[in-house]
Amino acid sequence: MARPNQAELDLGALRHNVSVARQLAPQSKMLAVIKANAYGHGAPIIATALQSHVDALGVACLEEALELRDCGVTSPVLLLEGVFEEAEINTAAQLGLWLTIGNEQQLKWLEDSKLTTPLHCWLKVNTGMNRLGVAPDQAKGYHRRLTASANAATDIVTYTHFATADDITSQKTHDQIARFDALSLNALRSAANSAGVLAWPQAHYEWVRPGYMLYGNSPLLVEHANARSLKPVMALTSAVISLRDIPTGETVGYDAKWIAERASKIATVAIGYGDGYPRQATDSTPVLINGQRASLAGRVSMDMITVDVTDLPQVQLGDEVVLWGKGLSLAEVAHCANTTGYELTTRMPARTPRIVVSE
Ligand SMILES: Cc1ncc(COP(=O)(O)O)c(C=O)c1O
Repeated sequence: MARPNQAELDLGALRHNVSVARQLAPQSKMLAVIKANAYGHGAPIIATALQSHVDALGVACLEEALELRDCGVTSPVLLLEGVFEEAEINTAAQLGLWLTIGNEQQLKWLEDSKLTTPLHCWLKVNTGMNRLGVAPDQAKGYHRRLTASANAATDIVTYTHFATADDITSQKTHDQIARFDALSLNALRSAANSAGVLAWPQAHYEWVRPGYMLYGNSPLLVEHANARSLKPVMALTSAVISLRDIPTGETVGYDAKWIAERASKIATVAIGYGDGYPRQATDSTPVLINGQRASLAGRVSMDMITVDVTDLPQVQLGDEVVLWGKGLSLAEVAHCANTTGYELTTRMPARTPRIVVSE
């Protein structure tokens, strides 16, 4: 038997989630965010599946865009952090990429370029994230210079990014929207990430930019009706490779941290932090074995976890184990590991094969 770990990808669920986002923001065009290897799902697979269903794709940088073009993705691709050096502008032009302009240097590089075809530009405005983007009172000047530049296409989009839209009661998001609205530039607008799509309809504008929700997850801090029908795209699965009975008082795993309080049955599963399972997951973290819940027992190792299956006597060698996916949400596992679902999928290493299970 080959090592049994897989990140199974349900592309039908991916397209379903796109249609959920479309229904929530019917007037808006959609840029699907697939940076960081499509949040760990595998950018070539996800981009290929998405490209005829969305209006554009978003990646962090030129290298990520190149990977998409190399595998035949032809749709518009926005560089969400823009270019990092002047030479990248020409490459971006050759590949037909869209540029973020978020500071004086990026604008100057664009203005100084000699392009034969103008580039589509998204002007990033800082309304409160305080990470990237130009100050609201500078936005008009930037917009004027972009409009005047022969290197920028005329359909400029202004955009901003929310810091706290996952909290549906957030005053900061109201403040960011008010600052964004106050720009009143003659440009298309974009603000909504997944949380914005799900819970801030006043921020849908002409373009929405969901990422996380397209993979079937809700970033919202509370249960929300709009997120209920999302379907997980990734299921992380493995299998039981060893079973043993241990007496009361015996310990399991590194640091001898888990101590059997009764005669126990321990299943060893062939997945560890080297395969993308979080090392911080605590003993209460659930897994599904044959669809039934059991909890971790002891520390997560590099290649294995150990699970208390004392109450599941029918468990056998080779049984499938679901670490997250249908029936066990990424959010629940992330919570047990004191992190977010964003981090869990994004850190999935190449060692874990991505397998498309449903087209
Ligand atoms: C600029 C920008 N827009 C949109 C998104 C998508 O956010 P989410 O995955 O929360 O939908 C991101 C992701 O971090 C981003 O950086």
